[in-house]
Amino acid sequence: MSKLSQRHLLGIKNLTRQDLELIFETADNFKDVINRPIKKVPSLRDVTIANVFFENSTRTRLSFELAEKRLSADVVNFSTSTSSVKKGETLLDTVNNILAMKVDMVVMRHASVGAPHFLAKHIKANIINAGDGTHEHPTQALLDSFSIREKLGAVEGKKIAIIGDILHSRVALSNIFALKKLGAEVMACGPPTLLPKYIASLGVIVEWDVKKALAWCDVANVLRIQLERQQIKYFPSLREYSLYYGINKKILDDLKKEIVLMHPGPINRGVELTSDAADSHHSIILDQVENGVAIRMAVLYLLAGANSPK
Ligand code: CP
Repeated sequence: MSKLSQRHLLGIKNLTRQDLELIFETADNFKDVINRPIKKVPSLRDVTIANVFFENSTRTRLSFELAEKRLSADVVNFSTSTSSVKKGETLLDTVNNILAMKVDMVVMRHASVGAPHFLAKHIKANIINAGDGTHEHPTQALLDSFSIREKLGAVEGKKIAIIGDILHSRVALSNIFALKKLGAEVMACGPPTLLPKYIASLGVIVEWDVKKALAWCDVANVLRIQLERQQIKYFPSLREYSLYYGINKKILDDLKKEIVLMHPGPINRGVELTSDAADSHHSIILDQVENGVAIRMAVLYLLAGANSPK
């Protein structure tokens, strides 16, 4: 069996292009499995996985849990709102207590940048980063590139515009790393206040005008305005943001070309996307969600294999 170069999935930054291609080929097989009448395989029987979510999630959490169950793993779920974190327990104590119950893999979402990296240094289980603050969200970027590959046949040579709140987005950073490794041209588009100063140093084109970005790209990956991470005002109002950066179906239709519309979710309908755009024939937003299960099955399966002897 081919193996990943890493035993944890902490981010896309340290993966190789071969790692990404191995994950996609493995996900192709699992996508066939989850479309069969019997959707379950015994690959992770006797492997115990803890989903440890210190931040809210719908898609990522459900998708990981479903992927784990499709692979026949034993699954335990943890969320801060119902845990002893509320009584002041530390991250390391929390996870060490979970590991004392013989857990093999930990899928973790945390509001602090570097939390999964910290855990990986201190515990033996495989760690999968399900989003750490404004840093990385590797499985989202994997499923995004996988969805582009599925829709357009390849990622290499394609023009991808990432549009919106780049400054606060872990999805943007992981996507930039993945897309660049796979040979895509990448543009970051948003209001200047929501584009980090270092962004051009990642090898992306920077654009402030959303209509120019849409005219340029094959794929528009539109991001949510993350009000919960914004301590100051980066733009005058949501209404003004929507006026200048909101995308509706007419804008897409007026391009007079094929364009693929993506969004990692959750969508702020009426802010970055109108419903007629989000639900239009341009959109592959629900395909992204479907592909998330196959991608997460592939990641779990390959990381479990990283523990077995060569
Ligand atoms: N895309 C994403 O991470 O969604 P959730 O926050 O619902 O997991």
